Amino acid sequence: MPSELSAYVSDITPGRGALRPARSWLHSDAPSYSLNGQWRFRLSPTAAVAEDFAAEGFDDGGWDSIPVPSHWVLQGDGAYGRPIYTNVQFPFPIDPPHVPDENPTGDYRRHFDVPADWSGAERVVLRFDGVESLFKLWVNGDEIGSASGSRLAHEFDVTSSVRPGDNVVAVRVHQWSAASYVEDQDQWWLPGIFRDVTLIARPAGGIEDVWLRTGFENGRGRVETEVTADAAAFPITLRLPELGIEQVWATAADVAPLDIDGVEPWSAEQPRLYDVTVSTSAESIAMRIGFRTVEIRSDRFLVNGRRVVFHGMNRHETHPERGRVFDEEHAREDLARMKRFNVNAIRTSHYPPHPRLLDLADELGFWVVLECDLETHGFTTVDWAGNPSDDPAWRTAYLDRIQRTVERDKNHPSVVIWSLGNEAGTGSNLAAMSAWVHARDTGRPVHYEGDHTGEYTDVYSRMYASVVETEQIGTDGSRSPLLNCTPAQGARQRTKPFLLCEYAHAMGNGPGALDQYEALVHEHPRLHGGFVWEWRDHGILTTAPDGTPYYAYGGDFGEVVHDGNFVMDGVLLSNDVPTPGLHEFKAVVQPVGFTFDGDDVAIANLRHSADTSDLRFRWRVEHDGTPVDSGDLGVPVVAAGESVRVPLPRIPVSRNSETWLTVEVVLAADTAWAREGHVIATAQLDRSTRRPAPGVRPRTDWRRSVGTLDLGIAEFVDGSLVRLAGRAVAGPRLELFRAPTDNDEGTSGEVEDSDAGIAGVSHAELWRRDGLDRLTTRRVSVERTADALHMLARVSPANSALSVMVESVWSVEGDELELRVEIEPSSGWQTVWPRIGIRFDLPDGTAPIDGAEWFGLGPHESYPDSLRAARTGRFSATIRDLSVDYARPQETGHRSQLRRLALTSGNTPALRFAAIPDAQGRRPGFTLSRHTPQQIARAGHPFELPDSSTSYLLVDAAQHGLGSRACGPDVWPEFALRPQSRTIRLRIAAAG
Ligand code: GAL
Repeated sequence: MPSELSAYVSDITPGRGALRPARSWLHSDAPSYSLNGQWRFRLSPTAAVAEDFAAEGFDDGGWDSIPVPSHWVLQGDGAYGRPIYTNVQFPFPIDPPHVPDENPTGDYRRHFDVPADWSGAERVVLRFDGVESLFKLWVNGDEIGSASGSRLAHEFDVTSSVRPGDNVVAVRVHQWSAASYVEDQDQWWLPGIFRDVTLIARPAGGIEDVWLRTGFENGRGRVETEVTADAAAFPITLRLPELGIEQVWATAADVAPLDIDGVEPWSAEQPRLYDVTVSTSAESIAMRIGFRTVEIRSDRFLVNGRRVVFHGMNRHETHPERGRVFDEEHAREDLARMKRFNVNAIRTSHYPPHPRLLDLADELGFWVVLECDLETHGFTTVDWAGNPSDDPAWRTAYLDRIQRTVERDKNHPSVVIWSLGNEAGTGSNLAAMSAWVHARDTGRPVHYEGDHTGEYTDVYSRMYASVVETEQIGTDGSRSPLLNCTPAQGARQRTKPFLLCEYAHAMGNGPGALDQYEALVHEHPRLHGGFVWEWRDHGILTTAPDGTPYYAYGGDFGEVVHDGNFVMDGVLLSNDVPTPGLHEFKAVVQPVGFTFDGDDVAIANLRHSADTSDLRFRWRVEHDGTPVDSGDLGVPVVAAGESVRVPLPRIPVSRNSETWLTVEVVLAADTAWAREGHVIATAQLDRSTRRPAPGVRPRTDWRRSVGTLDLGIAEFVDGSLVRLAGRAVAGPRLELFRAPTDNDEGTSGEVEDSDAGIAGVSHAELWRRDGLDRLTTRRVSVERTADALHMLARVSPANSALSVMVESVWSVEGDELELRVEIEPSSGWQTVWPRIGIRFDLPDGTAPIDGAEWFGLGPHESYPDSLRAARTGRFSATIRDLSVDYARPQETGHRSQLRRLALTSGNTPALRFAAIPDAQGRRPGFTLSRHTPQQIARAGHPFELPDSSTSYLLVDAAQHGLGSRACGPDVWPEFALRPQSRTIRLRIAAAG
């Protein structure tokens, strides 16, 4: 016989005693009282806690105190346990619905006053907006009820237990429960009361719930009102002052839809909201409504009759210090940042966010896919055996979850799709959730990616589909089968709008290929874009043993099972710094498109419905990155979906430098999320006159070289470079290795280039197997002429017959020094290479190299499949800022298509390099770093990088692309770097 306690903890019903049906999260003028603040707290290692809260008046004197809302594992410096990170794995035995006896249990207790003037309240309700994972509630010793559904709101009627004056509320929270099996999202497990606790007075004659369903058609707005209130609450008045509406309904039977002329629609681009109040004599609810109609017409997803393209982000609630505790200011800034980066949509992966987030989404403008708190991914370990999604015993719990989700957030115009959850397999309980939503809300479609065959959902959704596969989905008449579908099911899926609920896994350096996905959206209208995985890294701020702060990931808290840094896969680092991947996203999805054609440019407005009247177009011309002219481009207002052709300004073309025209689209006025002048789109046009690269002067009079040699600013000893312009320099040495990115370490089965990749084996593993990280050199010959030095070396790793011949020629060319390096691989190399480059070591002397100024692509790092954010220009940065602090150190900092580079010391140029294009016109890229790729590869966190007394300059003839193989497709074949011969030619000069 299970004990009463274990039966409770493993109970799969959603708890007892919480009010049903759930209702909207409303802004009411009825009195309420926040119970946020310090609570008494005690943590027990098991669920079997001695004291019974029913015994009123027991002593909590020895207890600690903890803030509510918070997660106890993020409080008390480890005194209350540590966070656990798992992706798919359950951090407890798979023994559903049971959890171990070792079940951290937090007891919370506090006093509160019920104000005397609440005596008029008909009922007193206690609301919990989020408690992970199972909790029981007592008020003044009375057991009130229990609930699970961590990211869902639960309300309890406590009227009969509260009294005027002092009261005691006690809450017992268990970290693990049966509910943990259906809350297996890829994130930290963070127990505790982590959202608000509110005491609410419900007045007699108040409004229990209200739903204003809005529509917009043919310039008219519609409001359909659903009010839940006692008959005695009537008359009810709806006021919409801005449109002069005051509608009084005397009885429930009178409540009728309102059709309103002259309204402006709501969209993510123009989030027009109207203030509305719905009032009885006892209570008034303040709402902000937006008029929009969501519909699916054949395979199109439309809002207000126009196709929506999601340029979305998956947004978890995560904060480096607060975990999932909501911080409105931080969230608002995050959303404003999304807007600044051209993000127009949010999937609330994988649970409803704090309710205020949706107010912000309504106000700032996002298309929101609102997801229920549901994931059972860990059941994949047992081949989905016993998956709750298909077990009727769980049906009530599943329905409770979706009902709480939809009811709480149904009023938000930003919410355009309901999502049943994530990675919960498939089964009748999901179908039942969908049926419930369809019956309850006819105004929004249902999404669930796991419904691969489209049995119960309205949109076709996939995650991490490759470019090829996405194209096949978009293409009519394609016979290619769709994942897990019979041909007939595939045909049905093709009748629906398609979205990528997750794509472009942004773990570490990457993702690549964003532009390829975006191009498909413009070719195939069935494809409605998608949601990048994901917005933020989930790093938790902690300190290394020596006190250095850092952002922790899985394993850093000694978890028994964990998934390492798979939780660090955002386009925003834990400290809010946008990654180059986010800059790339912004450029790829920019809402204004440019096509240069002769002396004209065609400008396309790619927005959903907004015209371009809020934008200004400006241009500038640069010669080798130096501005020479600029102005405004006269562009008439372009309607959404339209384009115009306008003449380009007169471009002064330079004969001996590169001429580039840059056009920028900027905000014409301040908005809620950016200042006037904020750039939303950019395009460049190369108008340079082609100049041939200087030829290589043939030399014949080579003789053996020993001893010292000076060639211009270079000094050599026995053929080795020792100084440039008086500064100690070693190298160059061949470098084929890069510190593997998370994508390089990825083993996902989708290898786009089967010549170069092996399913299940990462590129990084192949590189290590081939010894790219440990090359050794044998010098074959050193020869000189009067003004040149020639060296031949064979570079190869231990225990390998594979090699690369490296021929370096230093020569004086007029008053310049030239270095030409020919890199020639032996036959037999089989994998792709991370890079083909050379490395110079510049030890710190009296004036360490600590920055760079360059003319080439910038300002951010760029790689062959992530070049859209990069523009040609002149840039400068400190060596520190040239690298990105990815949570796990990895390849970073490569700037492509270098023309000229000055290494600087204290902002003063020290050495100058000019890159000469190779015979195919290809230019090298550069990286300047305080660490070698090998050092970076050895560090698990930034604080593990060794102290450095050297700056390293890497000049790469080529780099491998990025891809997104950490969870998705490998690098596209065109951007994969196969072993090949390459030439690097540099002219090097002293500064000045
Ligand atoms: C998906 C999942 C996300 C996340 C992602 C990988 O399968 O839905 O929650 O785990 O993969 O980071």
